[in-house]
Amino acid sequence: MLPATCLQHRLRCQIQALSLLFLFLALESVTAVSQEPQSDFCRRFSHQSTVIDDRLYIDGGYINYRKDDKNYVATENEPNTWLGYHDLNNFGGQDGLLNPQLHINLEKNRTMPTVAGGILWPDSINKRFYLYGGNWISPQRADAFTLTGYDIINDRWDDFGPSKIKLNVTALGAGVGVSQTGKGYYYGGWVSDKSMDGGPKDAAMVSDFYEYSYDNNTFKSLKGIDDRPRAEGGMIWIPTGDWAGVLVYMGGVVGDGGNKTSPQPLDEIFLYDATMEVWYKQKTEGQVPQNRGQFCADVARAPDNSSYNIYLWGGKAEYPPLTNASAYSDVYVLSMPSFRWLKADPDISIAPANRTGSRGRFGSSCNMVNNMSHMFIIGGNYPNESNVDCEPAWAVHGFWTGTVNNTGNNEKWWGFQTKDTTGNVVPSLVYSAIGGDKNGGAVIKSPKDGFSAENRPLSNLFSSAWPSPNRQPSRNVHGEAPSRLSTGAIVGIAVGGAVALAIILFAWWRLGKRVLQRREEKHRAEVTQEAQQMNQMQQEEQQKQQTQHMYQDRHFHSGQSHYSSYFGSGSVGTVTTPPLNESHWGSLPVPGSTDQQFPADATELPASDGNAIIEHKPSVSPVSPRM
Ligand SMILES: *[C@@H]1O[C@H](CO)[C@@H](O)[C@H](O)[C@H]1NC(C)=O
Ligand SMILES: *[C@@H]1O[C@H](CO)[C@@H](O)[C@H](O)[C@H]1NC(C)=O
Ligand SMILES: *[C@@H]1O[C@H](CO)[C@@H](O)[C@H](O)[C@H]1NC(C)=O
Ligand SMILES: *[C@@H]1O[C@H](CO)[C@@H](O)[C@H](O)[C@H]1NC(C)=O
Ligand SMILES: *[C@@H]1O[C@H](CO)[C@@H](O)[C@H](O)[C@H]1NC(C)=O
Ligand SMILES: *[C@@H]1O[C@H](CO)[C@@H](O)[C@H](O)[C@H]1NC(C)=O
Ligand SMILES: *[C@@H]1O[C@H](CO)[C@@H](O)[C@H](O)[C@H]1NC(C)=O
Ligand SMILES: *[C@@H]1O[C@H](CO)[C@@H](O)[C@H](O)[C@H]1NC(C)=O
Ligand SMILES: *[C@@H]1O[C@H](CO)[C@@H](O)[C@H](O)[C@H]1NC(C)=O
Ligand SMILES: *[C@@H]1O[C@H](CO)[C@@H](O)[C@H](O)[C@H]1NC(C)=O
Repeated sequence: MLPATCLQHRLRCQIQALSLLFLFLALESVTAVSQEPQSDFCRRFSHQSTVIDDRLYIDGGYINYRKDDKNYVATENEPNTWLGYHDLNNFGGQDGLLNPQLHINLEKNRTMPTVAGGILWPDSINKRFYLYGGNWISPQRADAFTLTGYDIINDRWDDFGPSKIKLNVTALGAGVGVSQTGKGYYYGGWVSDKSMDGGPKDAAMVSDFYEYSYDNNTFKSLKGIDDRPRAEGGMIWIPTGDWAGVLVYMGGVVGDGGNKTSPQPLDEIFLYDATMEVWYKQKTEGQVPQNRGQFCADVARAPDNSSYNIYLWGGKAEYPPLTNASAYSDVYVLSMPSFRWLKADPDISIAPANRTGSRGRFGSSCNMVNNMSHMFIIGGNYPNESNVDCEPAWAVHGFWTGTVNNTGNNEKWWGFQTKDTTGNVVPSLVYSAIGGDKNGGAVIKSPKDGFSAENRPLSNLFSSAWPSPNRQPSRNVHGEAPSRLSTGAIVGIAVGGAVALAIILFAWWRLGKRVLQRREEKHRAEVTQEAQQMNQMQQEEQQKQQTQHMYQDRHFHSGQSHYSSYFGSGSVGTVTTPPLNESHWGSLPVPGSTDQQFPADATELPASDGNAIIEHKPSVSPVSPRM
């Protein structure tokens, strides 16, 4: 009646009896689990992301799960109710060439809304980020607005209350958050009852431009480029000029006041002196990208700050397009202050200038990581394709800003990070247009025909060294553990852990390896909680205070585990989510494509983990007219 392995594994046998007590619960938890974004990941889009220290956080948006055990997309767009992060320190594995591990064990309880098309404003100084804007997708109708934020040190969400000024809270606006100055910005977007309590049923574009000051929790309404409503553009912050720096706004759509929208062409961009609060309109030259919205972009500066290069990826085609694409799969670089657009991918020397990759998408995220040597492009919504393969490695695509291995003149852009990268370089694509070399030394520092009279101040903004406001943390950010557990608690946890392990092993034997592997993290979290509960009955008196925090998340999302706080430390870097099984495709380099990891063509996609794609479902459909 006992499994054969029992003879070889004493511990398992000894605790098996105890395991039986929990079998019913274990079975229940195994059969009741739903899919989660670490093991069952297929695709994601319209999520919010930000980088703080060595983590790339991903909140909300939509997720498409794998279809059963097959490596193709399930049809539904599910709200991603998890807060996850990619560990930028954990690239482990062969030759140091890997994508960063995804963890999904951070606090995000069910009372928190899940939104799509909003923004995370990072505060790397106070170790938080704020969540602003977006359409509520779980639940599907917005509550009265209060600003919420995630506290990295204490692994919890805080509510910063309503705004003192009336806000049109929107989705798909353009925004950026700046840790160094303690400001979050948000421009335009679509307001509706999904983005704001009391918003209109039919989404309407707005012209509002807001600034949020982190340190006194205050929103302020700023003057926009003009009075026209705008949405789906991009905003980037440049550390140049005066202390508040310069904002760059580009692309998207503009409204005429009614329901009609027209594209905002990328041959003109808008710069905002955030200290003086003045807008400038600036023409751009070169290989100007096609009209688009819901693209993503981030900036890398030359090592000597002689140029600031914005890398723009993909987006939704806005009519009239000059290609036949409904969305783009390409990367352009806008170099400033020369204001030249350069096309990085697909390479114009081997393809027509306007050619875009065949798997266009919008609603991706772009984040510079690893000292700007890489831009991580994550996810995206494919509006028009029949390919339903899952994206490997949690849809993380690494784009080397200075070409592969920071050589500057390598022909290749896409590739995994290497561990020994310490900075970024200017690619020859850029320095051959603006002068200098891979370390900077840009020669061309003005637009083709010089700065116009009214834009003369831009020349000064880009030539003065940025005086950092030297913002200081307003709380203890050096990772004081919230509480320490008593020895009794630790012993209790050890016993509880052994019981949990026994349950897992027993359930494994009973239910089969496969199911359990895929649900491992979730299962363990739940079972551990049950074990903790038993333990508490015995040790309630001496432990009540210390263990309270272990239980506070009983009603939270079942997929979230909280190992780190069980062991008394809520500080960054102690998360103990077990690494994925070696055989999991997501943790391994994409077969045969370590350098060309993001092929332009669907047909070049690697054959995943060997699961034949036996049944193609219809393409994932966009979930709203604009998202
Ligand atoms: C969920 O999180 C919010 C915000 O941090 C908090 O106010 C609330 O008490 C939490 N709910 C539960 C059930 O813990
Ligand atoms: C935005 O808010 C202002 C008042 O704060 C209001 O007058 C305006 O109509 C709002 N715009 C939309 C599109 O709701
Ligand atoms: C909040 O701080 C900013 C500077 O960061 C300042 O401009 C603003 O006036 C302050 N607002 C209030 C209400 O104190
Ligand atoms: C805009 O669209 C909505 C819904 O389609 C419609 O009710 C409204 O009349 C339109 N407004 C204008 C100005 O065309
Ligand atoms: C470039 O700018 C950054 C950010 O302002 C600054 O930290 C760095 O020291 C500057 N580098 C040079 C060489 O001026
Ligand atoms: C768009 O498609 C049409 C028909 O397939 C083709 O003739 C045309 O050249 C295409 N245009 C571009 C810019 O690719
Ligand atoms: C969408 O894809 C179909 C078939 O692949 C193609 O015929 C059509 O032109 C595409 N439409 C757009 C707008 O890209
Ligand atoms: C490429 O785009 C330019 C405008 O940026 C346009 O003039 C040209 O006709 C386009 N070429 C093709 C082949 O579509
Ligand atoms: C980049 O560097 C890695 C490891 O240093 C090496 O394996 C790989 O071949 C290099 N790639 C290119 C294109 O030079
Ligand atoms: C980034 O650069 C700093 C200073 O040059 C260096 O100490 C750090 O290790 C680099 N980080 C990474 C991830 O390469």
